[in-house]
Amino acid sequence: METFSDDVLKKTHSCGQLRAGDIGTNIRLCGWVRSFRDHGGVVFIDLRDRDGITQVVFDLPDNDNAAEHERYKLARALRNEWVIAVGGHVRGRGPERINPKLPTGEIEVVGDDLTVLNRSDVTPFSPDEYANVSEETRLRYRYLDLRRPEMTRALRLRHQITRAMRNVLDEAGFIEVETPFLTKSTPEGARDFLVPSRLQQGAFYALPQSPQLFKQILMVGGLERYYQIVRCFRDEDLRADRQPEFTQLDVEMSFVGEADVMNVTNRVLAAVCAAAGKTYPASVPVIDYFEAVSKYGIDRPDMRFELFLHDVTGIVKGTDFRVFTDAIAAKGIVKVICVPGGAKFTRKEIDDYTAYAADFGAKGLAWCKLEAGNVVGGTAKFLAGDVQARLRQATGGVDGDLFFFAAGKPADANKILAALRCKLGADLKLYSPDDFRWCWVTRFPLVEWNEGESRWDSLHHPFTSPAPEDMPKLTSDPGGCRSRAYDIVCNGTEMGGGSIRIHNPEVQQAIFNLLGINEEQAKVKFGFLLEAFRFGAPPHGGIALGLDRLVMIMTGSASLRDVIAFPKTQRGICPLTNAPSTVDDRQLAELDLKIIAPPAK
Ligand code: AMO
Repeated sequence: METFSDDVLKKTHSCGQLRAGDIGTNIRLCGWVRSFRDHGGVVFIDLRDRDGITQVVFDLPDNDNAAEHERYKLARALRNEWVIAVGGHVRGRGPERINPKLPTGEIEVVGDDLTVLNRSDVTPFSPDEYANVSEETRLRYRYLDLRRPEMTRALRLRHQITRAMRNVLDEAGFIEVETPFLTKSTPEGARDFLVPSRLQQGAFYALPQSPQLFKQILMVGGLERYYQIVRCFRDEDLRADRQPEFTQLDVEMSFVGEADVMNVTNRVLAAVCAAAGKTYPASVPVIDYFEAVSKYGIDRPDMRFELFLHDVTGIVKGTDFRVFTDAIAAKGIVKVICVPGGAKFTRKEIDDYTAYAADFGAKGLAWCKLEAGNVVGGTAKFLAGDVQARLRQATGGVDGDLFFFAAGKPADANKILAALRCKLGADLKLYSPDDFRWCWVTRFPLVEWNEGESRWDSLHHPFTSPAPEDMPKLTSDPGGCRSRAYDIVCNGTEMGGGSIRIHNPEVQQAIFNLLGINEEQAKVKFGFLLEAFRFGAPPHGGIALGLDRLVMIMTGSASLRDVIAFPKTQRGICPLTNAPSTVDDRQLAELDLKIIAPPAK
């Protein structure tokens, strides 16, 4: 391999920097050969670094200077993804050769010095052709994928976003504190990743699902305003917006109510949006959980478009349509979406929406069209004149529209229509791709009934404070008891959530009783927190924002994997390192562990 002096590495510019104003200057660049063209007598190199691309030209010398001929020969030998250092001067391209697609397209660098810093094997794919390779391949050779400008942009924006978060929180008097990764299980509702202990054989650490308990203990410790940009670990089924390890901006504050936490979060999000060149609204709508579920069918409403759900149980209960009447008899509901202009849907389109709804549990999708003052098609024959008029009135439906109905248990009907609503919003282009609609959802139910296990579960976590006015319901009507929890939602994605916590040991005990956690279990699981609470816990509350999700939505990416340097696949695998992998017997023996089943293929 060639040796070279460190002087050749002293670049004066990045590959995205040079402009017409630099013509005539001597410069040095370092980067990767993105492409080369040998035109016989002149070699063109597109040189790439994290900032952009600059065209470098090596001309066949018109003299017999041996060194210049040697350099030209070397330029002809360059191949894609070789790493080179170039010295030269900047020259204008001339009007007919300007490349308007490149920010550096008005100039080129005439190379008079060339050093090959490293060669590259032929790469499995070129960063520019990433669209033709599977995501698994891209993740396996992630370092090549990271050379793509989109990836660099996403990671740079991620950095700018975390910096903006830190600035806002620093100014507001927050202190960044780290909390342990090797810890005890936290009650966030997902499965834990476990780490066996060598020193305490048979015992396991859990990787934190969030720093929830530690941040509350920091409040007992008097830190008052804490934040941390922190990795969290959850062993759950993965989706485009879920990774097994992801990053939160985690915040906790003492002596605050909901509005204080929401105000600080609004300031952080305004700075996040500004870093991404977007505007965060001066006033973010706050919507009550029940209103959200009633209008949108879901607790993370996509507010970019209306297309509300309407509960028409009272209107259709007297019809002869068994789907409706059976559902209502079983304490269910009937809801409808009125699709503006939907009467023009073909039978095939309606069938496709029915198939889509089936993915969300619908056994069918009742529908009818509004035409010439009447309803036609589908379930129309069951809807008598009076019912039709009342449906029109309840939904604002007019001729040319279409009704899609869902009947069943409230949760099921809402789930189906919420999904259908989002699909219709996208299909009918009811919003522009540049729309960002934020909202706060508040006053969640404290608990939800777990049908399978016949018990109450926390909707957030067991340290969420009940709403003061609902305290009496803790025993009389737990399902009707609301909490001091809040979520921040953007375009139908949950960006963050938090709550005002319980700081009173008696209230905490009452919640554990409700959740069926007895004193012994509470002691084993979170005894350390309960003990801390006996020694002067201040009133406190907080929130955690999903950093990956924020960057995903700010960059318009379809998946979290596009904004994480080294993500896991849908199957929880890292194709670059091949983790998770088996370990050798010696490592297992040190931990006193034995694999009794062969690892799944
Ligand atoms: P929660 O569980 O709602 O709250 O998480 C907060 C935010 O973290 C993001 N998030 C995820 N992002 C990517 N992949 C995942 N698997 C994943 N899971 C969650 C979401 C979510 O809104 N301790 C509480 C916060 C608190 O009460 O202060 C907590 O973790 O954007």
